Amino acid sequence: MDTEKIIELLNIDFRHELEATMMYTYNAFVIEDCDLSRLTEGIAADEMRHMWWLADLITKRGGRPSMEIGTVEYLGEDIIEGLERQIQKETEGIEEYERQIEIIDDDEVTGVLRHIIDEEKRHRKEFRERLERLR
Ligand SMILES: [Fe+2]
Ligand SMILES: [Fe+2]
Repeated sequence: MDTEKIIELLNIDFRHELEATMMYTYNAFVIEDCDLSRLTEGIAADEMRHMWWLADLITKRGGRPSMEIGTVEYLGEDIIEGLERQIQKETEGIEEYERQIEIIDDDEVTGVLRHIIDEEKRHRKEFRERLERLR
């Protein structure tokens, strides 16, 4: 796979991480439950760290991270719906990273993507546990 294509894929990831950072940061501001708010804030910081790792891979290969952003669905009145959306965001990320690991033949990139997947799985588990408690 040529470098340009790798940069293109990493920029898809970068945008998803940017969206997750924005969604979780906002949600942490408006969630009243203290434990859930602090958890979501901490995970927002993890997502921003993922942006750093991806930006590093992108710039090292001569690219620039893309700050274009898709639609971010921020938390409304329904906390359960909001948590389900956060879980969905993690699942979409995991699926995209897994897809990319299969096709990218660059060990440094796939190593970082694997590490990110581990963290996204932990995020999803944390959100699922909170969702169970609310049900
Ligand atoms: Fe992430
Ligand atoms: Fe995550």
